[in-house]
Amino acid sequence: MKITLAGLLFIFTTQLSAQHSLVFPEPSNVEQTTDKFVFNGRLTVDRTKIPEDLFPYLQQLFGRQSIHLEPAASKDASIHLQQIQTFVYSEGYQLEVTNSGIDIKYSSYQSLCNAFQTLNQLIQNPKELAGIHISDQPAYAYRGVHLDCSRHYFTILELRKFIDQMAKLKFNRFHWHLTDDQGWRIEIKKYPKLTSVGAWRDSTLIGHFSKQPAEWDRSKYGGYYTQEEAKDLVAYARIRGIEIIPEIEMPGHASAAIAAYPELSCTEKQIPVVGTWGVFDDVFCSQEKTRSFLKDVLDEIIEIFPSKVIHIGGDECPKVNWEKCPKCQSIMEQNNLKTSHELQSFFIRDIEKHVNAKGRTIIGWDEILEGGLAPNAQVMSWQGMEGGIAAAKLKHQVVMTPTSYCYFDYYQSGHPSEPLAIGGYLPLEKVYQFDPVKGLEDEYKRYILGAQANLWTEYLPNIQAVEYNAFPRLVAMAEILWNKGKVPYADFVEALSGNYLQQLRNDGVRFSTSFLDPKLEIRPNQTGVNYGLIKPVEDVVFSVNNEIVTGISIERTDQVREQRYLIHSNIGDQELRVCDYTFISHLALGKPVSFATKPHEKYDHNGSLGLTDGVVGKKPWKGNEWLGFNNDTVQFTLDLEALTSFGKLQIETLNDPGSWIYRPERFVIQLSKDGKKFKTAKKSNLNGDLILLTKKMKARYIKVTIFNKELIPQGQTGAGFTPWTFINEIILTK
Ligand code: ACM
Ligand code: ZN
Repeated sequence: MKITLAGLLFIFTTQLSAQHSLVFPEPSNVEQTTDKFVFNGRLTVDRTKIPEDLFPYLQQLFGRQSIHLEPAASKDASIHLQQIQTFVYSEGYQLEVTNSGIDIKYSSYQSLCNAFQTLNQLIQNPKELAGIHISDQPAYAYRGVHLDCSRHYFTILELRKFIDQMAKLKFNRFHWHLTDDQGWRIEIKKYPKLTSVGAWRDSTLIGHFSKQPAEWDRSKYGGYYTQEEAKDLVAYARIRGIEIIPEIEMPGHASAAIAAYPELSCTEKQIPVVGTWGVFDDVFCSQEKTRSFLKDVLDEIIEIFPSKVIHIGGDECPKVNWEKCPKCQSIMEQNNLKTSHELQSFFIRDIEKHVNAKGRTIIGWDEILEGGLAPNAQVMSWQGMEGGIAAAKLKHQVVMTPTSYCYFDYYQSGHPSEPLAIGGYLPLEKVYQFDPVKGLEDEYKRYILGAQANLWTEYLPNIQAVEYNAFPRLVAMAEILWNKGKVPYADFVEALSGNYLQQLRNDGVRFSTSFLDPKLEIRPNQTGVNYGLIKPVEDVVFSVNNEIVTGISIERTDQVREQRYLIHSNIGDQELRVCDYTFISHLALGKPVSFATKPHEKYDHNGSLGLTDGVVGKKPWKGNEWLGFNNDTVQFTLDLEALTSFGKLQIETLNDPGSWIYRPERFVIQLSKDGKKFKTAKKSNLNGDLILLTKKMKARYIKVTIFNKELIPQGQTGAGFTPWTFINEIILTK
């Protein structure tokens, strides 16, 4: 008889509870029973049934819980293992705890790892285990985490600790970003200067990329991984059920390699390893000589990394040098290539042919779709879901990593204490809303292998910063990829704060508690606004000056008035957060605004009150509070609900080209008494960051139109795309 996992599924008589179990990510099927297995700190297993490398790891894993995992004869073991070859899901497993012990049914190495990770998390005390039946399998085959080790370098020991945490959450791919403009991090024996020169930069930007004037840390910075170290890490990850996918960036993000070997670029000019962030014009020339170099590099990479897939980058490659380069132009002519996108496609196809001949597959960022996708390439969709959807429709395999859900270098909170980040806003709750197959017809869903969280490290200078940005957002990502976030968010955060945070503390992992901040629910009233404080978890209590609060009221004023509140979040007697909120009161506070141009869904706070909510966006921008529009013209109308005299109107704008946000170029302000007939009060270019009107005026309606550049200029990150326009509160005073 053919046995399948589906055939083996336990028959549940009890209704599945929506609440989270003790295990993260939540297993697909869980049934608690009244059994109890008493083991007094010692578990035994027939170690001949466990792959040799795995056993010491498991001993160490359980050892951290003060459990001795010891070998025993099969008949005497407290953990009974049974391998079932015909499970449908290669990573699925079943685990039962009964009065007489622990039964695990598994199929593959992966599935055995998963079963032990679940068992490890089930153990809440080192003496006994509550009865349970678990039958489990992941929703997605590819569950990845990416870490940029070029912008900042992390030691092998730090990476090991990070991989340990990934394994606990049943991630199975570590995408290792090894090369970029700011440092080449992997030893290549044929080209020693890649690491003797390319792994070191002589300066690093201090503060945010958009800050002017720029400041520099002039100390030498760098490091690299020897091939032996990389192989050791591959083995270390493999034991934990994780495959490492190396990334070698091409044709863009190549400055470090070109600093080592200038002849690889079109201009052949000597350049330094870059110490700032962004996109750079010095890219690999498309000539044969450079492609041969890259093939040599990939040959060594393939020897180190056994992964089926090799990441070849492909993102953000400016073509300005190619367009001026006789060697590139002659390749275009010889191969009848009409555009530089087609030249990039030619480049990637040539590399693909080489990699395929070695039995491997390439994966690249979604720009590899431009100019035509290489025949067997997988696509990693980062600029949105669109690239991935297009690739899936071409029947190519896809890993989804859209910035809006997967970029863990974005801010997770707008709180003033939040450390500097690149920009963007991705709180825990948003990660939990991620659907990697959203927008795809059923027939193409099977091409979506899964998804990945990306940790870019321009603003993450050490592993503690990486951990802080990763956790607990990685826990949410693990839930999405394992069980599609089936537990309601409120139950997930309840379990997270009650259980998983303690595991992170025990493991010495830094994490953010910003998901415990109150969410402000703004309600306008006659005199101003009330901010309801929404609880992220039931048990949380908010207080101000030792008094419990559920909301804060702010009154409208005719001059600017700042009001600061320190809101303490407690669970029991444990204080988890202190949030520092400043509200700005003025004449337009709580007055409705209608938008002719809608704010983008990513940066649309408080709907029609977004510009009058008394919450003023700070600089540097922390990904929220500001309203963001992806339009070159923005228009909205404030309704003061009665004829009102005022003397000053002020709207602040943001300029952060690194995040594709540009200060608008000009604006028009029009006033009306009836909302029908408008008179122009001011028409002006922007001087500095402020849209400003200072004149005694009277109106009920104020219409503002803001004009930005049509497109981001060439040579800038995001060139050719519509710039973002970001604006702050409409501050109106007498
Ligand atoms: C990317 O974020 N440039 C892939
Ligand atoms: Zn060239």
